[in-house]
Amino acid sequence: MKKDLTNVQPVFPMPVLVIAAYDAKGTVQTMNAAWGQICDYDKIALFLAEDHATTKAILESRAFTVALADRTHMAEADYVGIVSGNKVADKFARSGFTATKSARVNAPVIDQLPVAMECELAEVAQTKTLYAIVGTIVNTLADEAVLAENGKVDPAKLDAIAFDQFQNGYYAMGEKVGQAWNAGSALAKAALGK
Ligand SMILES: Cc1cc2nc3c(=O)[nH]c(=O)nc-3n(C[C@H](O)[C@H](O)[C@H](O)COP(=O)(O)O)c2cc1C
Repeated sequence: MKKDLTNVQPVFPMPVLVIAAYDAKGTVQTMNAAWGQICDYDKIALFLAEDHATTKAILESRAFTVALADRTHMAEADYVGIVSGNKVADKFARSGFTATKSARVNAPVIDQLPVAMECELAEVAQTKTLYAIVGTIVNTLADEAVLAENGKVDPAKLDAIAFDQFQNGYYAMGEKVGQAWNAGSALAKAALGK
């Protein structure tokens, strides 16, 4: 028997993204964002509150990075989602993260997180129901330690965490249970008469 859960946000898993941008003073502003997703082959959409210090920094510098939080840096990633740079001037310095300026975009790359997208601000999409920061992903950086032999990121090595909006938990991701475009191939073949 299914129960009505009414007003919840029942998509799981949600990513744990660490967004970073330089503000007008050149200070690193950073925040945790779960409401973000790839929305085209080279685009990412982030649903950020307009008054966050990081959102303002993105609008000022027109660039940002998006890193994937891993299990090792869960506390740091959570901290940047609790404290605001609007209230704590040295928020980033206190985070335990350090950053290096991206070679491609005017934004900081967090040194400790293994995968980061370097983005230019493409558009601020604003409608009656939506406020989205859309970035063009110029490049993605990955630590060698998280790469598989084929040169692509190995999710098992990445050890990324996901956010659960039912219970506000963080979950480790990394157990492979199947191959996409393959797990359903027997059903697809039968349906297509092959
Ligand atoms: C798990 C988690 C997910 C979050 N997801 C978002 C999000 O998707 N969008 C958003 O605007 N704020 C989100 N937040 C809240 C911001 O990270 C938080 O308000 C932060 O302090 C903003 O920092 P800033 O003002 O220094 O930019 C999230 C926080 C946590 C802990």
